[in-house]
Amino acid sequence: MKEYRIAVIAGDGIGPEVMYEGIRVLEKIAELDPEIRFCFTEFPWGCEYYLEHGEMMPADGMDILKDYDAILLGAVGYPGVPDHISLRDLLLRIRHGFDEYVNVRPVQLMPGAPCPLKDVKPEDINMIFIRENSEGEYHGSGAWLYPDTPQEVVIQNGVFSRMGCERIMRYAYELARKKQMTLTSISKGNALNYSMVFWDQVFAEVGKEYPDVKTQTFLVDAASMFMVKDPKRFQVVVASNLFGDILTDLGAAISGGMGLASGANLNPERKYPSMFEPIHGSAPDIAGKGIANPLAMIRSVADMLEFFGHDAWAGKIMKAIETMVETEDSLTVDLGGTASTQECGDALIRLLEK
Ligand code: NAD
Ligand code: IPM
Ligand code: MN
Repeated sequence: MKEYRIAVIAGDGIGPEVMYEGIRVLEKIAELDPEIRFCFTEFPWGCEYYLEHGEMMPADGMDILKDYDAILLGAVGYPGVPDHISLRDLLLRIRHGFDEYVNVRPVQLMPGAPCPLKDVKPEDINMIFIRENSEGEYHGSGAWLYPDTPQEVVIQNGVFSRMGCERIMRYAYELARKKQMTLTSISKGNALNYSMVFWDQVFAEVGKEYPDVKTQTFLVDAASMFMVKDPKRFQVVVASNLFGDILTDLGAAISGGMGLASGANLNPERKYPSMFEPIHGSAPDIAGKGIANPLAMIRSVADMLEFFGHDAWAGKIMKAIETMVETEDSLTVDLGGTASTQECGDALIRLLEK
C-alpha cells in the first residue's frame, strides 16, 4: 500500500469549487483501491489570505511544500489583489522555485465536445503542448525607471538560457520520439532577434540527436492562424513560456473550452514536487454560483495519478470524462448542459464505481 502526501492549494474564485470535486474523485479511488491512500493537507493561501496577512503564502511556504509528493492547485487571482502580485507570489513562485520547467498541456478534441471550427473531426485535433515553464518571458527581471515622470521607462526582460532551452527541447523531442509524432517549434525569430533566434538555433542543435523525429517551425502568429485553419498540422509542440500560455488557451477554445483543459507542471528529475492544475483561472464571472466545470480539475487529478505511475486509474478517469462528454451526461453550462459543479462530479464518481 502506498500513501501519497498531497498539498492542496484550492486558491480563489472557482478554485475551491472545482478542487472539492477533484478531491472527492481521489477519495473514491482510495476507497476502491486498497493499494492507494492519500493524505491531503489544505493550505488556505491565495487572495483572501493576502488581504489578511499581506502575503500570498507564508515566507516559509516553499519549505513547507517541498516534502509533499505533489501539489494540487485550483486557481489563483481575484479582483481586489493586483494579478501580478497574486500570480507571481504564489503560482509562479512554486513553478519557478520547484524548477517545474515542463508544462504539459494536451489539446485533444474528445468526441462530442463543442468545437467552434467548421469541418473538424476529433482526430484532427490531437496535440501535446510542451511549454517552457521556468524562464523566458516570465523570468520576472526588468526595471521600472523614473516612475510618474515624462522620462518613465519600463523594461521587461526575456531570459533564455542554454540549459533552459536545451532541457525543454530535449523533453519535447523525447516525447515526440516515444509517441512517434511530429514536433513543431513555435518561434518569432523574425522580430525577437536575440531570444527567438537563439531558441531556433538550440531547437536545430538538439534536433541533431533525434534524426528520426520529423520537425517544423512556425512563427507564433502563423501558428495561431494554422491552429484555427488547419489544426492537424500540430502534434507535439514546444513553445516558450508566454507563447505556450497564449496558444494553449486557443487550444482549449478549439477543443471543448477552458472547462476541459489541464496542465501538469513537472520537475522531471523529481527533486521537488510537481504541481497539477487546470489551465483556467479563478473565473470571477461565475465564481460562487456552483456552475464551474470541474472536469479540467479532475483531469489534473488524472495527470497526477499518471505521474505517480497509476496509469490504470488515470485512464479510467479519462475514459469517464470522455463518456460524459460523448453522452452529454451531467455536463455543466459551458459544455451545453445544466448540471451543477457537484452534479458533474457525482456523475464522474458513479462512472468510476462501475
Ligand atoms: P479564466 O480562465 O479565469 O476565465 C476565462 C473565461 O473562461 C471566463 O468566462 C470563465 O467563466 C471561463 N471559465 C474558466 N474556467 C471555467 C470552468 N472551469 N468552467 C466554466 N467556465 C470556465 O481567465 P481570466 O478571466 O482571464 O482570469 C481570471 C483570474 O484568474 C485572473 O486573476 C487571472 O490572473 C487568473 N488566472 C489564474 C490562472 C491560474 O491560477 N492557473 C490561470 C489563468 C488566469
Ligand atoms: C496559466 C496562467 C498563468 C500563466 C498566469 C495566471 C500567470 O495564465 O497557467 O496559463 O500565464 O502561466
Ligand atoms: Mn494561461
